[in-house]
Amino acid sequence: MTEERLRSSLSHNSTYHVRGSKVQQLHAVADALNQTSDLDTLEGIDWDNFGFGLRPTDFMFVMKGDLEGNWQKGQLRPFGNLEVSPSAGVLNYGQGVFEGMKAYRTADDRILIFRPEENAMRMINGAERMSMPAPDVDTFVDAVKKTVLANKRWVPPTGKGSLYIRPLLIGTGPILGLAPAPEYTFLIYVSPVGTYFKGGLSPIDLKVETYFHRAAPGGTGGVKTISNYAPVLKTQLMAKGNGYSDVLYLDAIENKYVEEVSSCNIFMVKGKVISTPELAGTILPGITRKSIIQLARSRGYEVNERPVSVDELLAADEVFCTGTAVVVNPVGSITHGTNRVQYNNGAVGRVSQELYEALTTLQMGVSKDEFDWVVELV
Ligand code: COI
Repeated sequence: MTEERLRSSLSHNSTYHVRGSKVQQLHAVADALNQTSDLDTLEGIDWDNFGFGLRPTDFMFVMKGDLEGNWQKGQLRPFGNLEVSPSAGVLNYGQGVFEGMKAYRTADDRILIFRPEENAMRMINGAERMSMPAPDVDTFVDAVKKTVLANKRWVPPTGKGSLYIRPLLIGTGPILGLAPAPEYTFLIYVSPVGTYFKGGLSPIDLKVETYFHRAAPGGTGGVKTISNYAPVLKTQLMAKGNGYSDVLYLDAIENKYVEEVSSCNIFMVKGKVISTPELAGTILPGITRKSIIQLARSRGYEVNERPVSVDELLAADEVFCTGTAVVVNPVGSITHGTNRVQYNNGAVGRVSQELYEALTTLQMGVSKDEFDWVVELV
């Protein structure tokens, strides 16, 4: 059978379960696509040396719908390219939102995901802002579970990283005049990943950006639209070229209050109090951010969500970033103009370390899930 026929056969007959009667079919397809015939294990992968990059896996989930939100039945398909019209809404007018999630493998070989309903709701909110229909919470969560299970062998061994999950909602229907696209595609792909920043979980060096802004009041800074990310590449590349890890953005009105880093939220610790910029529409409502606030409060910390000036940040005892990709990452230094401040002599701060451990042991199923945040995939 040709690869094309096999791919088409799989997409027409695909099942969401890689167990039972469909296993033979999936083995045959995997063999023919030059993947390993063993759908449950992977040999020879150097799990210790994954950074944060795309490693193609076996399956992706694809579901199409119309502008009115009528969704067809979603399907698992072999991971591969999409075909869209050159005038697709996403290509021409940036109609797209995405999510980031992670699946972890426990020591006893269970697969866990973290607060998936939060991602589903954030996608619904973002889609509303971008005039797009979105899958409902149950459909979203179900699709995430199916995609992870179909790619189960790519969830790294416990303690060696995670399977990053990228749900994406894009306007794929053709449109030329400026208007919402007539057709939408919801898809999910996954990739095994290690730590986000080079050098693992070591403290990062941030540069405060004083000219370019990430978001303005009334704009889209508070939703996870694809169009928030390309504009930060320029400043990020410039900062990286000068030896920094990433860029810290300030508010667009006074150029004084801290907003977020290109890929994550920011927290500061002063004495016994933790503060983080409040969500006022220009900052991404991070799910890791929200979880860290809840976790820190449950451990007795006072946590304030309020405007945080860059001067206050520079005077903090400790600073750290949060995000799905970055998890909890300590900040070693911040440079604002000619002023460079180093925290903890560049070492990991005590609070960052405590909250990193509290979060990750929960996500990896090591500590008791008192919040009911962890979902086991079966
Ligand atoms: C995530 O943390 O999941 C994100 O979506 C940030 C992205 C820039 C990697």
